[in-house]
Amino acid sequence: MPIIESVLNETRVFPPNKEFSEHANISNIAEYRALCMQAQEDYLGFWEKQAREHILWHKPFTRVLDEANPPFFKWFDDGELNISFNCLDRHLTTQPDKTAIIFESDDGQVIHSTYRDLHQRVCQFANALKSLNICKGNRVVIYMPMCIEAVVAMQACARIGAIHSVVFGGFSAKSLHERIKDAGAVAVITADEQVRGGRNNPLKATVDEAIARGGTESVKSVIIYKRTGANISIEATRDVWWHEIIQNENTVCEPEWVNAEHTLFTLYTSGSTGKPKGVQHSSAGYLLGTIISMHWVFDYKSTDIFWCTADIGWVTGHSYVTYGPLAVGATQIIFEGTPTYPDAGRFWEIIQKHKVTTFYTAPTAIRSLIKLGPDLPEKYDLSSLRLLGSVGEPINPEAWIWYYNKVGRAHCPIVDTWWQTETGSHMIAPLPGIVPLKPGSCTLPLPGIFAAIVDETGHDVETGEGGFLVIKRPFPSQVRTLWGNPERFKETYFPIEMGHGRYYLSGDSANCDQDGYFWIMGRIDDVLNVSGHRLGTMEIESALVAHPLVAEAAVVGKPHEIKGESIIAFVVMKDQCPQGTAAIQIVNELRNWVAKEIGPIAKPDEVRFGDNLPKTRSGKIMRRLLRTLAKGEEITQDTSTLENPAILDQLQQAIK
Ligand code: PRX
Repeated sequence: MPIIESVLNETRVFPPNKEFSEHANISNIAEYRALCMQAQEDYLGFWEKQAREHILWHKPFTRVLDEANPPFFKWFDDGELNISFNCLDRHLTTQPDKTAIIFESDDGQVIHSTYRDLHQRVCQFANALKSLNICKGNRVVIYMPMCIEAVVAMQACARIGAIHSVVFGGFSAKSLHERIKDAGAVAVITADEQVRGGRNNPLKATVDEAIARGGTESVKSVIIYKRTGANISIEATRDVWWHEIIQNENTVCEPEWVNAEHTLFTLYTSGSTGKPKGVQHSSAGYLLGTIISMHWVFDYKSTDIFWCTADIGWVTGHSYVTYGPLAVGATQIIFEGTPTYPDAGRFWEIIQKHKVTTFYTAPTAIRSLIKLGPDLPEKYDLSSLRLLGSVGEPINPEAWIWYYNKVGRAHCPIVDTWWQTETGSHMIAPLPGIVPLKPGSCTLPLPGIFAAIVDETGHDVETGEGGFLVIKRPFPSQVRTLWGNPERFKETYFPIEMGHGRYYLSGDSANCDQDGYFWIMGRIDDVLNVSGHRLGTMEIESALVAHPLVAEAAVVGKPHEIKGESIIAFVVMKDQCPQGTAAIQIVNELRNWVAKEIGPIAKPDEVRFGDNLPKTRSGKIMRRLLRTLAKGEEITQDTSTLENPAILDQLQQAIK
């Protein structure tokens, strides 16, 4: 892959910026090394100190780590706390009038919400949830646009101990249905519509469609936040308006004190099977990960204006919109719209307008903005920026350099943060102002994170050799289990050959250079990373074969200049291979079909038809050949085990 090749040849090093390190929370490399050493020598003491320092405990814990039943590790498990109390109440005495959220709508209107205001909104909504008989342990699906209310909804769940499960607003009714059903949700919180890039998209109608698919009897209430006032259908026994249910509720709500291990949320993510997995996170351990990374990686200062552009539907939006920034008392931006509306300067305009100091986005966004306006950032005053971040996929060195020079004006460190839905918070990332940066590398593991690269038997590889990226010791913010599927949790993340089932297997391959810097190479499982979104090839294949005309399908990724990877589908129809305009028609139909089955993000970029797929004599699809075909490269691999070599010619032909 071009990204990997460019990363492997990368030799540039950007030394720490002195001006930055003078004020950094961790101000020199010796301090970083000392923290790593503490963790090495007294692992439990290290985490105990962090947890006591950063979390407000209702009942302090006495046990740090319970390893009695690996890999079901428990952290601080006899302690009690409330996450919303830790994010809101703790600021009421010190900074009630500080702006917590600056919301900017798609059309540029701005709303400020202070910590006092946000606290009241959360309490009021939490009381409304209680009035609907929603209580601790109940699951609540949130299918909302980016808005203050979405954060309120999540925080209110946390306040009463309900488990939220946010579904990205771009997912289809079918995907939403699967998640509502799997979670056994008692309520769905949504909006009438969402507004992005000047367009209104229905959300409530999609919820109706999802619930109508059946098996969702657990859902007793649908709460609708009125965003646009669009005409929507109301089911009188089930649907309620957000503004109506809060009307008579008190703005004070005693938090529900929960155990440290109480499930804060589940979030569905793609894996190597057709069915997304419900990644289940704890309360205290998860919160701790978000807080320490706010301090260490984002070098949080009380004067910062923090902006993470991720949607709350992804883990980045959970950790670095809803929880981390509020827990540390930051002022943050929440933006409803898209980077390119009304034009490709929107991000830069928002940074200028709100004097953003810390900007965290994905390589895909950076690459598409380079394409649309490489010199556009120069037209804006971006002098408020002091730190830039990247997340979600490997950043190619050229995009890194552009980001550094054009957006950061060659003085803002870039924190390239490697982590996952399952890790809850940053794992490998530079401490800004301290760690020299190498474009394309997420640099060094955070203190307390024992990341390593091992071979398939779990043994460390030689320096510079690629292998499986694992984390050798349990850490507080890690996934606790998969919702309703502990066996899959064990098999997927803690296979027995990896450190006797004690290493966390990330699913990524990586390289570590002579300086101990990590270079992420990509997934080792059948997971694609398309525009920073995780999609399982099996999920897309299942969607394709569900089409009445499709007999078989195989999906692979192909490197893409902007999206990182694009989706190529090889399809065998039940009838003859379509030709000419008929083929184009069917391609469109299949793309729309996948959008309906999963969501527009999963639409194949290319579809190719064949009478069969390349298979071995035992019937196994030879995916590596498909990857080569997708890239348009010549096949040099051994094809002697291939049952039907003639098929390869047919599959060369892309129909866009
Ligand atoms: O392959 C890695 C890639 O994104 C995957 C995790 O995806 P998800 O759970 O959706 O979470 C994304 C946001 C944390 C990883 O397995 N990935 C994430 N960050 C980076 C990355 N690849 C390279 N560099 C990164 N900084």
